[in-house]
Amino acid sequence: MSQPVSRHDRVLPTIGIIALAAGIFAIDVITPLEVSVSILYVFVVLVASSIYGRTGILVAGLACEALTLIAHPLSPGDPWSHWSLIDRVIGVVGIAMSTLLVMRNQSTMDALQRSEAFLVEAQQLGRTGSVGWRDPRGEQYWSRETWRIYRYEPGQTAPTLAAMLARTHPDDRRLLEQTIEKAFREQTGFALEHRLSMPDGETRYVRIVTRIAREWAGEAGIVGAVMDITAARRAADELQRAQSDLARVTRATTMGQLAASIAHEINQPLTGVVTNGHTVLHWLNERTLNLDKARTTAERVLRDGERASGVVRRIQGLLMKTPPQATDIDLNELIGGVLDLLQTELRLRDVAVQTELAPALPAFLGDSVQLQQVVLNLVINGADAMSEVTSRPKVLVVGSREGDDGEGVVFVRDSGIGLDRETVDKIFSPFFTTKARGMGMGLTICRSIIEAHGGRLWASPAEPHGAQFQFILPNKAHADL
Ligand SMILES: Nc1ncnc2c1ncn2[C@@H]1O[C@H](COP(=O)(O)OP(=O)(O)OP(=O)(O)O)[C@@H](O)[C@H]1O
Ligand SMILES: [Mg+2]
Repeated sequence: MSQPVSRHDRVLPTIGIIALAAGIFAIDVITPLEVSVSILYVFVVLVASSIYGRTGILVAGLACEALTLIAHPLSPGDPWSHWSLIDRVIGVVGIAMSTLLVMRNQSTMDALQRSEAFLVEAQQLGRTGSVGWRDPRGEQYWSRETWRIYRYEPGQTAPTLAAMLARTHPDDRRLLEQTIEKAFREQTGFALEHRLSMPDGETRYVRIVTRIAREWAGEAGIVGAVMDITAARRAADELQRAQSDLARVTRATTMGQLAASIAHEINQPLTGVVTNGHTVLHWLNERTLNLDKARTTAERVLRDGERASGVVRRIQGLLMKTPPQATDIDLNELIGGVLDLLQTELRLRDVAVQTELAPALPAFLGDSVQLQQVVLNLVINGADAMSEVTSRPKVLVVGSREGDDGEGVVFVRDSGIGLDRETVDKIFSPFFTTKARGMGMGLTICRSIIEAHGGRLWASPAEPHGAQFQFILPNKAHADL
């Protein structure tokens, strides 16, 4: 796009234009040529348009008109003859028309330049560049912001998929390539979020949104936007971190309160058990033997024992919160929802999640909030079990399948520290935990929820490492919710 030249740089071109106009004037005066010479003034106007703004072009046009009129009586031959006058008029009209057209063109160019300047500014503010391409491996169009996002200088490299891939995080390259190939093959747009790896080692995040465009001379191509979402992504991560810190603090506080009340509630019956235990021993003593009294006291021991276990049951009930609300559940959707929720948490812990979902599962009856709580607990436990693993990838597989009798099975398999024979018997007991910050209630609550759904939850070792937790939900016909 042509830019009006600065005042300082105009001196030489202006002298050139005057010389050009003077030369044309001389030819006009000396030779019998008329229209053709006048038309040469059009060049003067064109040259002026690349140096001046609209006023400058108008001045140049008027000057050319003046020169062509002054030259008329001075040129050889009979200037007042019929044909000579018509020739001159054609020349004058030609110069006027070209001046007007060039001026109009200049206005359009100015508007275009302004609009591009605004667009560049807006793209920079919104951190969104534009991109367009016709052939997956061919040259693309990149806007200035796109060059900036990929941290290339325009001209430093050809704007191609290869240049994009060179800046893409190695783990995301395949995905980007496949997505683009698929978009061209199936002629559809796509939206993809992925990481960039910058030359200085910084990881940034972009979101590319595209659609198929047929506006390019009937040829299909892809146009799209490349958004730099690093700031938003970091803010979301920060928020998630703050939320999980908050959750941890809340949990620790609740645990503290709960522990105090549990201690108080259980201490009373336990004191009773101990006191009554001594009394039983007393009545069983040879010298004071009294079987009736021993029996009554032993019954008190039992009663106090029951009271203590009642307290534990109540706490479990308390932690389960609401009674189950039975609705139709799509287990795959439920798993997807939980994994979405934990996406950032798992990414921060370097856990790779794989899903093995059965394609056509029937709906099961259950309480979606409670079942989500179960899957969430199992996934968090799996991630916890892998937190100290460094010698192998931390892979968590979450899947679903249909059992032989039409029941729904959900499994969560990790590659963590696994379960030894002794622990496996204890993990479902209340308050059993091997974690510094654990409460040991997760699996107890999960088992109560699943049993309340008429199902079963159990653990087994996974091959070659880790543990697998599975639960089954009865099919609708057998659901007793
Ligand atoms: N996937 C697993 N691999 C190995 N051990 C596990 C796994 N899941 C649970 N465990 C063991 O079972 C124990 C009990 O788990 P549970 O979920 O009941 O409590 P927690 O995770 O310790 O605490 P919280 O109440 O916060 O969930 C854990 O402390 C851990 O020792
Ligand atoms: Mg747990």
